[in-house]
Amino acid sequence: MKTILAIALTFIAITTTVAANEIDKRQILNINEMQRDHVLTEMRALLTGTQNILDALLREDMAAVARYAGSLGMGMVHKAEDHLKAILPKEFMQLGMSVHKDFDQIAIDAESLKDPKHTLRQLSDSMKKCNTCHAGYQIRVKEPTAQPEMHPSHTHHQH
Ligand code: HEC
Repeated sequence: MKTILAIALTFIAITTTVAANEIDKRQILNINEMQRDHVLTEMRALLTGTQNILDALLREDMAAVARYAGSLGMGMVHKAEDHLKAILPKEFMQLGMSVHKDFDQIAIDAESLKDPKHTLRQLSDSMKKCNTCHAGYQIRVKEPTAQPEMHPSHTHHQH
């Protein structure tokens, strides 16, 4: 037990002396606080949406599946993504768009085929893209604003 604790403490001591960017080797997306809020708000909507789809699938309510999936489709994008297109890497945007397209397809198929298993397969396949992107990128906020501890509610902007 003592040894384990000693090892753990040593590990903590070592890791805290290593610069943060050497620990997390994923490509850095340098964006500002508002852009970060925009991306992460969309991310949370994706997680909520996929959970809602799973819940609807469980009830075999394919109309609800189509509705939830549709809300995560390309329609979700047009709102405020133009300013991000110029900033974020092309590959990042393409991966993101392809996920939105997947959800449009999931909605179309849920409506027409009404086959929960088919939807599950599509969802599982599409969610590999969530993993691919998360494994490759991290967000770092640049140009800290006048108030470093900006509360999220202050960063709300037009969607
Ligand atoms: C094109 C890239 C990309 C795709 C695709 C993607 N994400 Fe993300 N996601 C990110 C990035 C970048 C972050 C921030 C990661 C970091 O900075 O450590 C993130 C963060 C998140 C977070 C944390 C949100 C928060 O408030 O901190 C959730 C939840 C999430 N993603 C869910 C999903 C789900 C679910 C999917 C797929 C349906 C998905 N993401 C697809 C890039 C992506």
